[in-house]
Amino acid sequence: MIYLDNAATTFPKPDCVIDAITDFLKNCGGNPSRGGHYLSALSGEKVFLCREELASLIGVDTPEQIVFTKNTTEALNLAIKGILSRGDEVIISSMEHNSVLRTCVDLEKEGIILKIARADSRGIVNPDEVLSMITNRTKLICMIHISNVTGSVNPVREICSIARKNGVLMLLDAAQSGGVLDIDTSCGDMIAFAGHKALYGPMGTGALYVRKGITLDTLTEGGTGSFSESALMPDSFPERFEAGTLNACGIAGLYEGIKFVKREGVKEKEHELGKFLIEQMSAVRRAKIIGSPSVGVVGLSLSGHDCVDVATRLDREHNIASRAGLHCSPMAHRTLGTITSGLLRFSTGFFNTKEEITATAYALQKVLEN
Ligand SMILES: Cc1ncc(COP(=O)(O)O)c(C=O)c1O
Repeated sequence: MIYLDNAATTFPKPDCVIDAITDFLKNCGGNPSRGGHYLSALSGEKVFLCREELASLIGVDTPEQIVFTKNTTEALNLAIKGILSRGDEVIISSMEHNSVLRTCVDLEKEGIILKIARADSRGIVNPDEVLSMITNRTKLICMIHISNVTGSVNPVREICSIARKNGVLMLLDAAQSGGVLDIDTSCGDMIAFAGHKALYGPMGTGALYVRKGITLDTLTEGGTGSFSESALMPDSFPERFEAGTLNACGIAGLYEGIKFVKREGVKEKEHELGKFLIEQMSAVRRAKIIGSPSVGVVGLSLSGHDCVDVATRLDREHNIASRAGLHCSPMAHRTLGTITSGLLRFSTGFFNTKEEITATAYALQKVLEN
């Protein structure tokens, strides 16, 4: 199998991640922060180490400001719903994933005002357009970093700087960029991560970084293993936002995944493979690259072919995993003019090779000619 659906979730996972999960389940399975016994302390330590590792990836020394979630969607929901209240305005881009779009549209029922900055045909938002939309009611800007449809990169540092000059908070959707691009606090006041994509953790892991000093409402209430005498959620990070038992086993895997990303030069390899993918796909006749990909993801429109049929044939006839359709991002497809046709997407990961990409371009050409 040639797996080129890494934008959905990376596969395979590194051995160190698999070993860490197995080790956790065999030797370490206490409930973190619940009870003072050895196994609880051991798993609590794994969770803490992972917080430190993710904090250091973005250059902050406040690991307690990293909140673990089950995926990027939950991290984005926590940030957006935790910050906004009736009468507030939120600005998002027209390239956002449904995890942002649906969340914000749902909030319109509660009197939140949604404004959408339209990206250009490359899938990139103009910071001046964002600036022109800010009013004294604007509370939050939420921006996708790398598009999961086109692989284009938004100028998020510029937009974050505009947000800060205007007293607005910036939330970065780093689902596709965590592990692939340099990310630090100049990109956002809150940063939502997918543990299971280019940070190489298992599914069921995600995180939200929240800058110290920002106060958020909770998304979920329940037990935290601390301040149990109170009927209210504690104010302190991260337990305020981590009600219920954590996916400590997954987080133990994510800890090794983040170390793997740092150790193995995942970023450099992703850039090299991404460039090669663009070169190879540019040469496929009857396929056209949409937008302006720069890393990891390429979206193709196919003349005279249904992209879902082509993806199915690539899977059945050539054992190649791709992703066709709207990629949970209908607004991005409307922006790009591909809402009726959808696109065929290939997305690379650390374990792909140039040979696999060449073979995929060849197979795609064959499918498009038959
Ligand atoms: C840009 C972007 N944001 C958010 C998400 C949602 O991520 P998750 O599946 O981790 O909730 C995705 C998933 O593909 C994505 O590509």
